[in-house]
Amino acid sequence: MQYPTARRAVQTIVREHQQLSAVVNGMARYVESLSEGGHAPEPMVMRAMLYYIREYPEQIHHPKEDKYLLARLRTRTDELDDVIEELEAQHVAGEARVRDLERALTRYELSGSAEAPALRALVGEYAAFYSHHRRLEEEVILPAALQFLTAADWMELDEVFGENHDPFSGSEIQGELDRLYSLIFSTVSGTIQ
Ligand SMILES: [Fe+2]
Ligand SMILES: [Fe+2]
Repeated sequence: MQYPTARRAVQTIVREHQQLSAVVNGMARYVESLSEGGHAPEPMVMRAMLYYIREYPEQIHHPKEDKYLLARLRTRTDELDDVIEELEAQHVAGEARVRDLERALTRYELSGSAEAPALRALVGEYAAFYSHHRRLEEEVILPAALQFLTAADWMELDEVFGENHDPFSGSEIQGELDRLYSLIFSTVSGTIQ
């Protein structure tokens, strides 16, 4: 979705959604490769993807949405209370889903291909869950935010999201996540066709 207003916070949120979608697609390709009978990549590839989701979307992106974007919107209108509640619940549920994925991956590592279908099913569910979450935020919340939030709200949001620990910019943790993200994608494109 394109936003005519070049709000920094909106651009950051949408870019981070694209990155998480890319990681989710990477997990989907990983689990598909397990059923193709050829050489599957090491489970470490998927472990790295789950680590990325824990460290970045779960630790930084979603908490900032809760604390700033959704909280501000709630103070400006009550039209979106149901959607906001649903998204907050999804942020909590998302963490539990990532833990379930980690457990399923461990079971696959320990027991081998018998556990692959369960892992594949969970990845499919997570992909559907995340795609619904992203759509609600981009198609309902962000347009509503552009409509209801004040200039002062946007100054705060632009600042808060502008100083996100962005894996594609400079600080220590960012550098680490940047390397991880690159590693994931060079591995995925090199080993999962
Ligand atoms: Fe989001
Ligand atoms: Fe979110």
